[in-house]
Amino acid sequence: MTVVAIQDQVEAAVRAALTRVLPAELAGADPVVRRSDRADFQANGPLAVAKRAGRSPRDIAQDVVAGLREYRAEVSGPGFVNVTVPDDVVWLAVAARAADDRLGVATPRSGERVVVDYSAPNVAKEMHVGHLRSSVIGDALARVFAHLGSDVIRQNHIGDWGTQFGMLIQYLDEHREVSWRGQGAQTMSALDALYKSARAQFEADPAFADRSRARVVDLQASEPRTVAAWRDLVAQSQRAFEAIYARLGVLLDDGDFDGESRYNDALPAVVDELLAAGIATESDGAVVTFTDGVDGPDGSPVPLIVRKKDGGYGYAATDLATIRLRVEAYQADRILYVVDARQGLHFRMVFDVARRAGWLPDAVRAQHVQFGTVLGADGRPFKTRSGKTVRLADLLDDAEAAVRGVLGERDHGFTAAELDSVAHAAGIAAVKYADLSNTRTKDYVFDVDQMVATTGNTGVYLQYAHARVCSILRRATDGSTPPIADAAGHVDGSLPLHPAERALALALDAFERALRDVADTLEPHRLCGYLYDLATAFTRFYDACPVVRADGATRANRIVLCALTGRTLAAGLGLLGIAAPERM
Ligand code: ARG
Repeated sequence: MTVVAIQDQVEAAVRAALTRVLPAELAGADPVVRRSDRADFQANGPLAVAKRAGRSPRDIAQDVVAGLREYRAEVSGPGFVNVTVPDDVVWLAVAARAADDRLGVATPRSGERVVVDYSAPNVAKEMHVGHLRSSVIGDALARVFAHLGSDVIRQNHIGDWGTQFGMLIQYLDEHREVSWRGQGAQTMSALDALYKSARAQFEADPAFADRSRARVVDLQASEPRTVAAWRDLVAQSQRAFEAIYARLGVLLDDGDFDGESRYNDALPAVVDELLAAGIATESDGAVVTFTDGVDGPDGSPVPLIVRKKDGGYGYAATDLATIRLRVEAYQADRILYVVDARQGLHFRMVFDVARRAGWLPDAVRAQHVQFGTVLGADGRPFKTRSGKTVRLADLLDDAEAAVRGVLGERDHGFTAAELDSVAHAAGIAAVKYADLSNTRTKDYVFDVDQMVATTGNTGVYLQYAHARVCSILRRATDGSTPPIADAAGHVDGSLPLHPAERALALALDAFERALRDVADTLEPHRLCGYLYDLATAFTRFYDACPVVRADGATRANRIVLCALTGRTLAAGLGLLGIAAPERM
C-alpha cells in the first residue's frame, strides 16, 4: 500500500500553489517545506524564489496562502508560509501506516543495485575497533538501502592473501606443537598470538625469513601442502569472523566473503591493461599510476603502486580488479566502500584510475564511505592499558557487563535466562548505537558508561522506550495486542487532536523521510536522531494523554498511536541492526 507522507502532501500542495503564482519559467520551484514549531510545517519557497520572480516574498506568500485550500495557512515573518494540517488528515495518515506491515514506507530505490563493501577484517588477525565501525555502519547502510528497495550485494573483502602467509605457514610447520584450531571465538586470539611470534622470529632469524619467503613462492605456485595450510587458516578465520557477526547481529555470512585472494588471477591483466593504456608507468621496477592533484607534502605526485618491485601485486591492484567484477558481472549502479578515513587517498586514486581505464563508467557511482577513529578516554586512538589494540570481543564483553550493572539497579523480575538475553541485546545495542549515532566522519570517544545510560540519546534508552510502549499496550489491551489491520480500523478521524498526539503522529509520519535521508547522505546517525526524537515525542504524548485510563474512541485512537510508535521504534532499531526486546 502506498501512503503519501503528510509532509510530502504538503510539499506537493505548496509546490502547486507556488507554480500557479510564479512566472512559467519558475514552475516547479522547491517549496522548501520543513517541520516547524509554530505550525506543523513552514514553507520558505516564496523567499527562495522572490528575487528571480521579481516580487516581494510576502506578496508571493500571500498568493500561495490563498491557493492552499486544503490546509490552514498563513503568512509569517518576511514571507514564510505556515501550514497546519487538519486533524482528520493526520488521523488518516496514522490509520494508513498502522494498517500497513511496512508502516507505509515505500521502496523508492527499487531498480538500483548497490554493492556495499564492509567489515573486511584480515585473516589470522584479531578484528579491532576499526573493523567494528566498518561492520556496524556498513550493515546499517545495507539494511536501509535494501528496505528502500535497492538490490544490495554485501561484500566482505577480507585480507586473505599476501606475503605474511608464507611466514605464518612456515612458522606453523616448524611449531607443530602450537594449537590454534577449533577454539571457537578464541581461534582469532590464538592466531593473532601466533602471528606475532612468527613476525618476531622473522625479524630475528634471517634463515627463517628465507624459508618464509620460499613459502610465499610455494603458495603462489599452488604447492598443495602450502595451499592446504593457507586454506585452513582462511577457513578457521572465517568461522571466527562469522561468530562475531552472529554475536553482533551483522548480516554478513559465508556467501558474502570476497577475499583478496579471489582476484589473484585477474591481477596480471589489470597491470597489463593499465600499462598498455599508458595509465600506469614503470618506476624503479614497480608499476605505478598517478592521479592529478594527489601530491605529497613535498609537492611530488603520490604513486599508487599496482605492482611492487618484487613482482607482487598490492592492495590497489586487487581493489581495481574488484571494481571490474562489481561493474561487469554484478552490474552495480553504485559501490560503497565503508572503510577508515585514513584510506581516503587510496580510494581517490583507485577510483580515478578505474575511471580512466574505463572500468568504472560515469553512470556507476563509487564512494568511499569513510569513518573516523575510535578514541580512548585520553583522546588517543583506543588502546588497552598496555598499549595493545582493543579486541572487539572484549569490548562487547565490557558493554554487556556494564548493562548488567544498570539492570541490577532495577526491579525487573527477570529469570537468569531472561537477564542474559536482555543483557546481550542491550550490550550490543549500546556499542552499535554509540558508533552509529556519532557523525560518521568524526572520531568518537569509546565510553562504556555513557553507552549504557538509560537516558539521553543511547541505544539502551531507545530499547527502554520501545519496551515501555509494549508494556503500555499490554496493560491497555489486557495482554492481547490487537492485530494491525484491526487496530487501524479503530481510528476515529473525527476526534480533535491533542497537540501531543499531533506531534507524535507527525513524527511517526516522517519515518520514510528519515530513511531516505540516511540513504541520500550515507549517514546512519540521522536515523538515530529520528528515533530519539520519536521516543521523546512519545514521552510527551504519554505524559499529556492517558491511554489505559482513557475511554471509547479516544482510547482506541491512542492505542493505535502507541502500537505504531512501538512498531516504528522496533523497525528503526532493526534497520540499525539493533534488537528491540519487548521487556527490559
Ligand atoms: N582489510 C583492510 C583492512 O583491514 C580493509 C579492506 C577494505 N576494503 C577494500 N575494498 N579495500 O584495513
